[in-house]
Amino acid sequence: MVQIRQSYLRAFPKKNDFVEYMSEWVKKPKEETSIMLHAVKKYELMPFLHFNMESLKEISVYIYETDFEKEHKGHTY
Ligand code: HEM
Repeated sequence: MVQIRQSYLRAFPKKNDFVEYMSEWVKKPKEETSIMLHAVKKYELMPFLHFNMESLKEISVYIYETDFEKEHKGHTY
């Protein structure tokens, strides 16, 4: 997820573009529209998930706004 977030931030620095592209892509994962083709080649295309567009946008906003590396520093367990 850290890598996906970084690739997306590089390609779509603006929150709106990021959220639009990610939610559309996850709604219909396609190799042709992937911005992480090397990952598709390595792991195959991710599965189709039955989230509606509203949820996908909320998830995408969360991914845009969350620094996952930061939040995972300092765990002691
Ligand atoms: C809410 C849940 C999820 C979100 C928002 C999400 C989002 C994404 C995004 C944005 C990418 C990169 C797209 C690109 O290539 O441009 C990706 C890649 C990937 N995801 Fe997910 N994903 C989710 C759940 C899952 C699940 C449940 C699996 C596996 C069971 C999975 C497996 C993969 C794999 C293997 C890739 C790399 C290959 C590819 O790009 O298709 N994802 N995901």
